[in-house]
This record gives sequence, structure tokens and C-alpha cells, in this order.
Amino acid sequence: MAGDVRVGIVGATGAVGMEMLRVLEARRYRLGAIRLFASARSAGRRVKFAGEELVIEELKKGVFQGLDIVLFSAGGGTSPEYAPDAVAAGAVVIDNSSAFRMKDDVPLVVPEINAGDCFGHRGIIANPNCSTIITLMALAPLHRTFGLRRVIASTYQAVSGSGAMAIEELKRQVGQVSSGEAVTREVYPHQIAFNVIPHVDQFLESGYTKEEMKMENEGRKILHHPSLRVSCTCVRVPVYRAHSISVVAEFEKAVDVAGARAAIDAFSGVEMKDDPATLTYPMPLDIAGMDDCFVGRLRRDCAFENGLSFWVVGDQLLKGAALNAVQIAEVLQRGR
Ligand code: A2P
Repeated sequence: MAGDVRVGIVGATGAVGMEMLRVLEARRYRLGAIRLFASARSAGRRVKFAGEELVIEELKKGVFQGLDIVLFSAGGGTSPEYAPDAVAAGAVVIDNSSAFRMKDDVPLVVPEINAGDCFGHRGIIANPNCSTIITLMALAPLHRTFGLRRVIASTYQAVSGSGAMAIEELKRQVGQVSSGEAVTREVYPHQIAFNVIPHVDQFLESGYTKEEMKMENEGRKILHHPSLRVSCTCVRVPVYRAHSISVVAEFEKAVDVAGARAAIDAFSGVEMKDDPATLTYPMPLDIAGMDDCFVGRLRRDCAFENGLSFWVVGDQLLKGAALNAVQIAEVLQRGR
């Protein structure tokens, strides 16, 4: 795919779609053309991009002719319906939904970890779950150094992961509580303001939620580590943007904190922000809007033999979604 690439974005008016557009512009992706798609509700709306005005088109069958790459972020229902159409028109689809992630013929890619998998695609490449990407950005260098065995993780997920309506819900409820009004709910099953909700995505028979199982299933595929064990608890917290994950990981080899820090420091896309003496650790307020993921509170775990505990934070709309998708598009543009 050498030269300028003709790119489409499906879901361009959504939280992730708008970030995709910003990231393409900020990274000066070499575009031959750009076209934006959303529902009929948004058709005709104008969006600024690189000093030009782009017009949102209605997503329909047959609109993808002439595009090389189509980035999909319009929900799990839209991708299965329209991605095959884009592939039939000759485009490569980079899909942010969970629809195709676990299919054998669909690469699931975090470019810093498994960029090479991109080239095994048959038209669709999947972008992993947001919390999984952020957690693996810290775990991948540690896995290469010490050999990962099992992980216990708890997520602290921002409301923007549930879309624009959820941001409004948190704002509204903070106002309602502050002024003594009754709290109203539309997005979450419980009040999110001044609360935490230990429930993200649908419950499975096992008692875990679908979101929680993504960390193990997608982690195995991305790390090429089929025996990896992960027990995850996903929690929604009243934070606007950036997910945090508390991780305890057990390794095959003896671990040391200095070696772990060095491995993380040497890995592209993740940085240490860790100095207890100066109360330095990553927090979502500081990390929102940043490309890299940040690790703090790194310490030898006192419950696992070869264990490390740490805290990792990343902007789930950027590295957890839009940035990762654009990085996959960059891998395709660069070629092998
Ligand atoms: P629209 O704005 O026209 O509804 P978010 O996750 O932030 O809610 O964004 C979802 C994105 O997916 C929006 O761009 C939305 O467009 C788009 N979308 C949702 N359903 C459809 C659909 N059936 N066809 C096309 N685009 C859709």
C-alpha cells in the first residue's frame, strides 16, 4: 500500500471517530483522500480537517468504492453489516468493534507488540479492547523479559468509554447531587456520580462479564500466548477520560524491579511515571489526551513468588482506540 492512501472513517461523528480524524491529521498520515460516514441523522454535517471542510456521508451499501482503508467505529452492529461490503470493494477494514476480534482469519493487533500479524489479514484487521491494549502495553515488555504466567487485574474505566451520552450523564448527576435534586439515570444501571459500578458489559454464566474476558482472550491472541491466565474485574468510575488498571502479574523467571523498569523504558509507547518520594504516579486527569501509556507504583508483589504489581493508565480514546487503529493503518502504508 505504498504512496498516498485513500481512507474512510465509519462512525466519524462518534467519540472515537472524531479522534481518528484528529490523529490522522496530527500524525500527518499520507492521505490520498478522506471520506467520512455516519448515520442518516448526520449526513450533510460539515467537519473541519486540515484546513478543509469535509461533508459527512450517509453509510450505505456500495459507498466504499475507491477506498484503500476503512476505519470502523460505529458499534458492534454496524461492523458485521458493512465491513464485508468494504472488503468486497477492495478496501482493508480496521475495525474497532468486538465483532471480528476472535476470528482465526482476523489479525488482532497492537502495533508495538505484534505489527507483523497485520500482514496475515484477509480484508479485516481488528483493533483490540481499550483496557486490554493499555494493560498489554505494560505487560508485553515484562512478558519478553520474564515470561508472563498469570494476571489479576482490576480496571477503573472512564465514562467516555460508553460514548458521549455517558459523559453527559456524569455531568448531569454531579449537578443534580450538588443542588440536592433527584438523580436521573439513562446510560448506567446505577448512579455513576460519586460512586463506582463494578459492572462493564454483559454478564456471562461464569459470573464474569464479557468485557472482563476480553483481557484473557484478546491477550492470548496478541501476545501469541495461548496458555495465559487472566482474572479481571472491570469497574466504571466517575472519570471523564483515560482508563486505569491495577495489575498483579506472575512470571516464569525471577523478577527484579530495576529490570522491569528498564524493560518498560525501552518499549515504545509506554513510559514510567513512578517516584513515590515525590508522589509521582500516573492519574487519568494527567494522562487524558496523551498518546503513550504510563506505568507507576511498580513493585515486587508480596503474594506471588515471581510477581510484580503496578498501575497503568492510558487514554482509552487514543491508544485504546483511535491511535491504535491509525497506527495499524501506518503499518499497512509502510508495508513489511
Ligand atoms: P451518528 O452520529 O450519525 O449517530 P458513539 O459511540 O460516540 O455514540 O458514536 C457512534 C458512531 O457510530 C456515530 O458516528 C454514529 O453516527 C455512528 N453510527 C451508529 N449507528 C450507525 C448506523 N446504523 N449507521 C451508520 N453510522 C452509525
